[in-house]
Amino acid sequence: MQSSDNGSRERGRFITFEGGEGVGKSTQVRHLAARLGAFHISAVQTREPGGTPKAEALRSFILRGSPESWGVGAEAVLFAAARLDHVNELIAPSIAAGKWVICDRFADSTRAYQGLTGGVDERLIDALEVLALNGQRPDLTIILDMEPETSFARIRKRAQAKGEAADRYEREDFEFHRRLRDNFLSVAENEPERCVVLAADTDEEGLAEVIWTIVKARFPELAEAEQAV
Ligand code: TMP
Repeated sequence: MQSSDNGSRERGRFITFEGGEGVGKSTQVRHLAARLGAFHISAVQTREPGGTPKAEALRSFILRGSPESWGVGAEAVLFAAARLDHVNELIAPSIAAGKWVICDRFADSTRAYQGLTGGVDERLIDALEVLALNGQRPDLTIILDMEPETSFARIRKRAQAKGEAADRYEREDFEFHRRLRDNFLSVAENEPERCVVLAADTDEEGLAEVIWTIVKARFPELAEAEQAV
């Protein structure tokens, strides 16, 4: 935890991971939190949809496929409702308390899945972002990019190992996931100062190292923390 000269606590940072299915976001969230921990920086690891009891309840409802019949616009609203609680109850208070927050998916997922891929009007997506984020934009977004063929092989392997069935988004066809991939890339193109796209079809440790280099370069306070370790 960092303190400013006058003794008041500084704000933490907010980093999000985005990308299609099975690209390794959760693993990289854990790697980054561990590296920050080694610098004595307390990092909250969280995910979307979810992260708070209310948002986790919405997660089960959405991922079981219950809102499918309501249409993709209503789904975008549900993701935003979960996000609003997550931001207000966990993300914003943690950052205000000087903690770093690392989140597995955030608002770019709604834009890529429900907006650009699902066809929900951009104006609704923009309005939901204003509502749910409440000004809490990520400082850095890492988009993990991979050919859908490769990520699908990973998903199948993971589901088999755990004896689990794929969730409804994982069951969508390749064409959906190809478009999704392109749409995440266009999200990154629109906000190059916030988003970094990384090829994720590489070894886990190597990718974690690349991410750490990017994070250290982005946040100067980490250079100070490095001196203190
Ligand atoms: P996960 O598999 O990364 O835990 O994410 C759950 C699923 O929810 C994933 O298929 C992507 C989807 N999703 C959306 O469609 N819109 C969103 O806003 C979020 C956060 C997730």
